[in-house]
Amino acid sequence: MPSAAISKSWWFFYFNSFVGLLNLAFAGDPFVYYDWTISYTTASPLGVKQQVFLLQILQFKQLGFLGKSIGHQFGPKKFVWRNGLQHRRNSWQDGVLGTNCPIPAGWNWTYVFQVKDQIGSFFYFPSTNFQRAAGGYGGIIINNRDVIPDLRKDVENGVDLGSPDGKTYRFRVHNVGITTSLNFRIQNHNLLLVETEGSYTVQQNYSNMDIHVGQSYSFLVTMDQIASNDYYIVASPRFVNSTKASGVAILHYSNSQNPASGPLPDLPNESDPSSSMNQARSIRMNVSAGAARPNPQGSFKYGEITVTDVFLLQNRPPELINGKRRTTLNGISFFAPSTPLKLAQQFNVLGIYKLDFPNRPMNRPPIVDTSVINGTYRGFIEIILQNNDTTVQSYHLDGYAFFVVGMDYGVFPGAWTALLVYLDNAGLWNLRAQNLDSWYLGQEVYLSVVNPEVTEKTELPLPENTIYCGVLSSLQK
Ligand SMILES: *[C@@H]1O[C@H](CO)[C@@H](O)[C@H](O)[C@H]1NC(C)=O
Ligand SMILES: *[C@@H]1O[C@H](CO)[C@@H](O)[C@H](O)[C@H]1NC(C)=O
Ligand SMILES: *[C@@H]1O[C@H](CO)[C@@H](O)[C@H](O)[C@H]1NC(C)=O
Ligand SMILES: *[C@@H]1O[C@H](CO)[C@@H](O)[C@H](O)[C@H]1NC(C)=O
Ligand SMILES: *[C@@H]1O[C@H](CO)[C@@H](O)[C@H](O)[C@H]1NC(C)=O
Ligand SMILES: *[C@@H]1O[C@H](CO)[C@@H](O)[C@H](O)[C@H]1NC(C)=O
Ligand SMILES: *[C@@H]1O[C@H](CO)[C@@H](O)[C@H](O)[C@H]1NC(C)=O
Repeated sequence: MPSAAISKSWWFFYFNSFVGLLNLAFAGDPFVYYDWTISYTTASPLGVKQQVFLLQILQFKQLGFLGKSIGHQFGPKKFVWRNGLQHRRNSWQDGVLGTNCPIPAGWNWTYVFQVKDQIGSFFYFPSTNFQRAAGGYGGIIINNRDVIPDLRKDVENGVDLGSPDGKTYRFRVHNVGITTSLNFRIQNHNLLLVETEGSYTVQQNYSNMDIHVGQSYSFLVTMDQIASNDYYIVASPRFVNSTKASGVAILHYSNSQNPASGPLPDLPNESDPSSSMNQARSIRMNVSAGAARPNPQGSFKYGEITVTDVFLLQNRPPELINGKRRTTLNGISFFAPSTPLKLAQQFNVLGIYKLDFPNRPMNRPPIVDTSVINGTYRGFIEIILQNNDTTVQSYHLDGYAFFVVGMDYGVFPGAWTALLVYLDNAGLWNLRAQNLDSWYLGQEVYLSVVNPEVTEKTELPLPENTIYCGVLSSLQK
């Protein structure tokens, strides 16, 4: 369920105290400022006492700013945080090791970013050391800005949509897991899909939804069943042949007299993965629904798009490279140098990374390397993700929303998904496996997008509060 441990004593709001730090070009836009102290506490979310994080759900308006000041008073480890917001960010605030130095224990660091061109349900988490597995995550909800006519206001607020028999509520569901896809369903109730990953969707009913690692969905659920009963809400692991670990919650009708009863609603046929693929294929972007701007990336006619580069990225199951267990894309297991690539680029430090990531899997033994995709600013890149592993994989590209132009079995061994990305957001962007094991073992790559014209309009300048590390440590103020 979309909730996280919230402890009010841990967080504070400040309004209008933050202007000095913002780029003046944005003065006048609303902003919010959150000051967090992140620490561990002991709780028993699964019945066993363990260290967990104290975090909260953030909610703010589109085009607002978020500043996060994070002090790690107790945490023994370094952190890099990243926001689940996926496009229009600037690389300096992306919170992955290729762009940001880790925040040392006991330090404060403030993230400042503008929330643009995206609405909906996201989550944030630390990007290092499996801290997500200890509960280090929370929800971010981006609402339409008040000044933008909001066609969807009733829907956002989950008010009665005129259905004769019941109210409609919005459920925001995130898979913040580590490796396992989930199937989400509510006994006897339809899930009307309305939003995923910051885009409104064509509204369609589903009886259940496969939610892969890292994915976020919003459903409208109408309370249209017999009101004297309660109903089961179930999230079960998918494709692992086990219903034992299902999470079960109760949907309680306010006047209900009877507990939920009957068998839990069924999982889809586990031996037939194509049903999951068909479901994913059925999701369509609703281009007429209001977001910040109706079509932030402009209008394109598919037939007229010139694809500048095609990258076929093939994953493989973990394998040994130099005696260590690693994962790869095109036979390259990513190595994160102690100097973030983005800082190396900014200060012209050579030899930290190479712009030589291969367009296709290479016919050679796998290697560990810091190899980056050289993207063409304002070009269209087609990325085909080819799954050679035996489990479902999901991938995340920072900095962009993209179009999924196809997915299927066949053509290549295993299943594949093709994406088309318009490279209009300059920066250095991380593309990674969402499965934390696969990611941390090396299944990620960066995409460099540089505007050849030198201007601060396409990319924000190095922030004042940059943390330096690696060969640039001496620049730390
Ligand atoms: C971090 O910020 C908090 C709250 O603003 C402050 O009390 C603390 O001294 C700061 N710590 C460091 C190391 O700057
Ligand atoms: C979805 O299902 C609900 C009943 O649960 C129904 O009222 C609604 O018309 C359906 N919407 C669509 C788009 O199929
Ligand atoms: C797209 O969104 C608009 C505005 O919210 C809504 O009225 C319309 O029903 C949606 N279209 C489809 C096909 O779901
Ligand atoms: C689950 O069981 C099916 C049928 O017995 C089998 O084909 C499949 O490989 C199993 N999957 C896993 C992940 O064990
Ligand atoms: C599940 O899918 C498998 C593979 O497509 C098929 O052989 C089997 O009959 C299906 N089972 C049910 C209950 O539909
Ligand atoms: C990267 O691509 C740009 C064109 O987008 C090209 O000018 C540049 O030479 C390329 N760099 C390398 C190292 O290939
Ligand atoms: C992985 O790739 C190898 C070599 O191309 C192929 O033989 C094998 O069938 C593939 N496996 C999967 C699960 O795609």
